[in-house]
Amino acid sequence: MRESPGLPELTVPSARSAALRLLGGDARRWGHVQAVAAKAAGAARALAPAEAELLVLTAWLHDVGYAEPLMATGFHSLDGAQWLRQQGHERVACLVAHHSCASFEAALRGLSKVMATYPDEGTAVRDLLTYCDITTGPAGQAMTMDERLADVQERYGADGVVTRALQAAEKELSRQLAAAERLLADSQPM
Ligand SMILES: [Fe+2]
Repeated sequence: MRESPGLPELTVPSARSAALRLLGGDARRWGHVQAVAAKAAGAARALAPAEAELLVLTAWLHDVGYAEPLMATGFHSLDGAQWLRQQGHERVACLVAHHSCASFEAALRGLSKVMATYPDEGTAVRDLLTYCDITTGPAGQAMTMDERLADVQERYGADGVVTRALQAAEKELSRQLAAAERLLADSQPM
């Protein structure tokens, strides 16, 4: 791994700056990350304040593993998680590792053992993060889960590992999305 920027203090502004530094050079990906973070800021109303902050800063950081300086295994969820773990941000590392049911892709890539070192907390934050990511397209456009799966198939091909992983994860993704949608409906302002 090449030298990468550090993230000693974990706040929403520092998470945003780190993500911008790492991903800002790719306008399309940065558009996606900004849209996921914006969606997370709205969805955060369903959580207590400390968890709300965690959701938003993790949304900013969820795709940092795509940045070249952070590449290690070649699977972005784990590479981002490893970078965060190295800096002592263990909970965010685990959330990033598991966003959008990444364990399915880790299995297809032969990385289940590494993934197992990151426990899946299975909380509302996890479900809402998955919801925000899966309902946001690659350039930041809003999408349903079905549209996102179709888009992935088009970009990566039917046999692509990303496509096969999302297909394998579909049931669990639907479960997490439904849980997130219930939380959001329950927290709707009257
Ligand atoms: Fe994403």
